[in-house]
Amino acid sequence: MGYIVSNAFWDDRYSTAAASGEAVWSIEPNAWIEQVTSILPPGNAIDLAAGEGRNALWLASRGWSVTAVDFSAAGLAIGRQRAATLALDLNWVTADATTWVSLTPVDLVVIAYLQLPAAELTAAISNAILSLNAGGTLALIGHDSTNLVHGVGGPKDVAMLYDLETVRLAAAGLDIAECRRYNRTTADGRVAIDTILLATKPRR
Ligand SMILES: C[S@@+](CC[C@H](N)C(=O)[O-])C[C@H]1O[C@@H](n2cnc3c(N)ncnc32)[C@H](O)[C@@H]1O
Repeated sequence: MGYIVSNAFWDDRYSTAAASGEAVWSIEPNAWIEQVTSILPPGNAIDLAAGEGRNALWLASRGWSVTAVDFSAAGLAIGRQRAATLALDLNWVTADATTWVSLTPVDLVVIAYLQLPAAELTAAISNAILSLNAGGTLALIGHDSTNLVHGVGGPKDVAMLYDLETVRLAAAGLDIAECRRYNRTTADGRVAIDTILLATKPRR
């Protein structure tokens, strides 16, 4: 299935799944996001393109003050409902990641599987960097272009897949700890290839 850059598409996808009592994504956070953020002291965070909020909710459960942003109001409505069930308090913002910048800088921005063409992805990463405090962390993970041939799942349109060079360029100006391909084992034991970026905003 192709990924279409439209909030109407995503609203429909989330609403249809919710109507049949299903989730589009897992309830658990992404394993890499969990791994790299669990060593950080809780502060304030943004989950950009949060979807149903699995990563945002996990961060909130760890004591982070979280703003979950997505252009799909239907996705965020599911996250809000889950938060209420878990007695967690988050901010939910319906906005376009290619234009939205936080008025309050944060200690952590998470971007997970925001699959956009290079120019739009670069804009979203730039906005994420603008939203960071000096010393803040950007943790980004997405389906890599090599996944199309060598991995499972993800968009089938190469224009919507991550290219290491695009990500590296978009993060220029950050202190990059990791920017590379990462093999993720799926629930059914197969391999998906992601791009990961872990970087901090310099204090200087
Ligand atoms: C593959 S889902 C990932 C959701 C979530 N990050 C996760 O890992 O569970 C991609 C999400 O990106 C959102 N999205 C796509 N383009 C967007 C944009 N321009 N601005 C904000 N959200 C966007 C979609 O609505 C969808 O919820």
